[in-house]
Amino acid sequence: MTEILPASDTTIAQAAAFLRAGELVAFGTETVYGLGADATNTKAVARVFEAKGRPHFNPLICHYPSAEAAFADVEAPEIARILAQAFWPGPLTLVLPRRITCNVALLAGAGLDTLAVRVPNHPHARALLAAASRPIAAPSANRSGQVSPTTAAHVLADLDGRIAAILDSGPCTVGVESTVLDLSGATPFLLRPGGVTLEAIEARIGPVQRGIPLAAAQASRTLRSPGLLLSHYAPDLPVRLNATSVEPTEALIAFGPPPPGTQTCFQLSATQDLIEAASRLFEALRAFDHTPSITRIAVMPIPTTGLGLAINDRLARAAAPRG
Ligand code: TXA
Ligand code: MG
Repeated sequence: MTEILPASDTTIAQAAAFLRAGELVAFGTETVYGLGADATNTKAVARVFEAKGRPHFNPLICHYPSAEAAFADVEAPEIARILAQAFWPGPLTLVLPRRITCNVALLAGAGLDTLAVRVPNHPHARALLAAASRPIAAPSANRSGQVSPTTAAHVLADLDGRIAAILDSGPCTVGVESTVLDLSGATPFLLRPGGVTLEAIEARIGPVQRGIPLAAAQASRTLRSPGLLLSHYAPDLPVRLNATSVEPTEALIAFGPPPPGTQTCFQLSATQDLIEAASRLFEALRAFDHTPSITRIAVMPIPTTGLGLAINDRLARAAAPRG
């Protein structure tokens, strides 16, 4: 059962305790309700994708109580600091390179080298983030394909029984999602219009690019829109899917008992648990990048039920021919 917690000091502490224990808690922000999980707990992040029923792993926004906390996890150039100063707390999300010391789960960023960070402008959300004292990954708290929820009742309608609690802080005031701005490339790039207008952003930092054609993106390999490109976020090595045996110079990504003769192996889940497998997938794909004797990654078959759909989507991208 999903508990509804009307926001108060006591329930905020309770919600923070749920998050710290790896449970999912929906909470109100000024834009829409978010489906929160401890971003440093890879299994909790996997459960977010399961609860949403997403057929693929979108990178999630990490929420922080302050710009200082956010910029401890990502590298922030001067324009990021200018925008943070002007619009945080508020409905602006900045995509920036992860710091080496960032301990947000790879799955939260869908395996990317960048991370989307935001400081929401809502007193309960900020109190919750401060009490949780860790980054909270939170997509909008709706089932995949449904519209973003702006009340606790919307969240309950979509996610009842799938999450531990909803921190009810009343209706959201902005009602549309945050503006997502990618500052990881040479020029600022608008990924999603939202609560902070483009005009307001350009008034602070000058021209912002948007809508580069796919061909140009592919040519420059500036993989701006996760999910758009088939071979997006591929590992260094070629990938062979549905492997039931392993060749001598292959490393195996296993799901359950590996075939006889397997030498180099990363186990996604010995018990064939899809949540555990999802939580370890991006580590698995990076695990053999620096093993010179390995020339290819073989991946055992993974069922396409539940989170398996998203896992297989991601693996298909990793195995797609490289452009
Ligand atoms: O207002 C909001 O932003 C709400 C509240 C809960 O904060 N959150 C939200 O999250 O709308 P979600 O997951 O529904 O949308 C996140 C967007 C997606 O379009 C995703 O592709 C993009 O942010 N995104 C996240 N991380 C990214 C990254 N590293 N690079 C590029 N885009 C990223
Ligand atoms: Mg959404």
